[in-house]
Amino acid sequence: MDKLVIEGGKPLSGTIVIQGAKNAALPILAASMLVEGKVTIDHVPKLLDIDVMLNILRELGCRAEHENQTVQLDTSTLQSSHIPEALMRQMRSSIFLMGPLLARFGEVTIYQPGGCAIGERKIDLHLSGLQALGALVVEEGSRIVCYADELTGAEIHLDFPSVGATENIMMAAVLAKGLTTISNAAREPEIQDLQQFLNCMGAKIIGAGTDTITVEGVEKLAPCRYQVIPDRIVTGTVMVAAAATRGQVTLLNTCPAHLTSLIHVLRRTGVQIAVDGDIIKVGTATRPKSIDRIVTSPYPAFPTDLQSQLMVLLALADGVSIMKETIFEGRFKHVDELTRMGADIRVDLSSAIIRGVSRLYGATVEATDLRAGAALVIAGLAAQGKTVVEQVHHIDRGYDEIETMLGQLGARITRYSPIPNNIIVP
Ligand code: UD1
Repeated sequence: MDKLVIEGGKPLSGTIVIQGAKNAALPILAASMLVEGKVTIDHVPKLLDIDVMLNILRELGCRAEHENQTVQLDTSTLQSSHIPEALMRQMRSSIFLMGPLLARFGEVTIYQPGGCAIGERKIDLHLSGLQALGALVVEEGSRIVCYADELTGAEIHLDFPSVGATENIMMAAVLAKGLTTISNAAREPEIQDLQQFLNCMGAKIIGAGTDTITVEGVEKLAPCRYQVIPDRIVTGTVMVAAAATRGQVTLLNTCPAHLTSLIHVLRRTGVQIAVDGDIIKVGTATRPKSIDRIVTSPYPAFPTDLQSQLMVLLALADGVSIMKETIFEGRFKHVDELTRMGADIRVDLSSAIIRGVSRLYGATVEATDLRAGAALVIAGLAAQGKTVVEQVHHIDRGYDEIETMLGQLGARITRYSPIPNNIIVP
């Protein structure tokens, strides 16, 4: 497993271009299976999760190339709608293929993606949504088979605005007969991006970005070329890293409107932020102020995917902050690692009480999941001395060479890969 070694204590400084959004690209790649022909998706980051998705598509018979941030798919050779269990278990987002494959083949076989490091992550809302569209769902152990000779539009109310369930239902409904409405839909920007992509292929969807989405079924879609939106979580990660190291960073290719809650919170800590079109400038030279209470909630509230990163800044703030996590029950695993670096954080059920310290110290720590790993990298950049972050493959799921990205901002960060057993060092 790779490690990152970070020499901390240097303010980040400079300009970087933000990668395309993983959480937009994954459902868009899955949605491409709805159409027959050649689809081109631009601004797709080079990530482990994207590699896994492309491998699944190849396994199903689709041609897929990923070069220079562009993915070219030829779905005309797609022949299977059975996602192998081993691939399904590599990435939860394989669940996105359920809706499109069901709509195209009338049948899909998947396996329970299982729980993961950050929580239980059920798929009941995905399944009940597809059932409402007329699918028969048969569960045998971890295997789930869905059948539908024809999908029919329906009124679907989600008990919780799940991002993935909203997207899966939208994708299945595109080729269904008649009108589908999804109420209490998730409002994340990635759902708007999916709507735009599907409409670019000829779908008739309105309402993404609000809590009611309406899909008018169409007979057929046509292939298209599309560019995914900038990654708001990577943008937010770099903004917090700039603030935690008391640096000055300019971020290009951002969508500031998708980060309103983070910008608001960072300004409350005293960080200076200037927005100009798709450019964000972040800078501070002083110790951040604490924030009495922050609660993670579905968009447009503060995102769970930036909770761990922001906690590093608050761990260095002047005063006590409280962070409440409402989306995933297992999302405080970074706390023990931050404590080993000198942070003073106590977890009480779903809240973390963060007493700011004036300094963090380098240590050997372990990334337990994607965003927890990003938080440890930020902590390492801000800390005094050397930090070693282990289990970097978690970080590679969502950040395109994080060491290169941060290295462009002057960070002293190096990746070490183990020497394979079969290489003989002279
Ligand atoms: C997506 C994002 C992830 C982000 C999350 C919340 C992608 C690829 N991933 O994940 O980065 O952290 O949104 O913003 O876009 N739930 C159910 N039943 C279901 C589905 C979800 O109970 O059928 C629950 C989950 O257990 C969780 C909550 O709903 O507690 C939120 O999950 P959801 O919005 O579905 O997140 P994902 O789509 O998995």
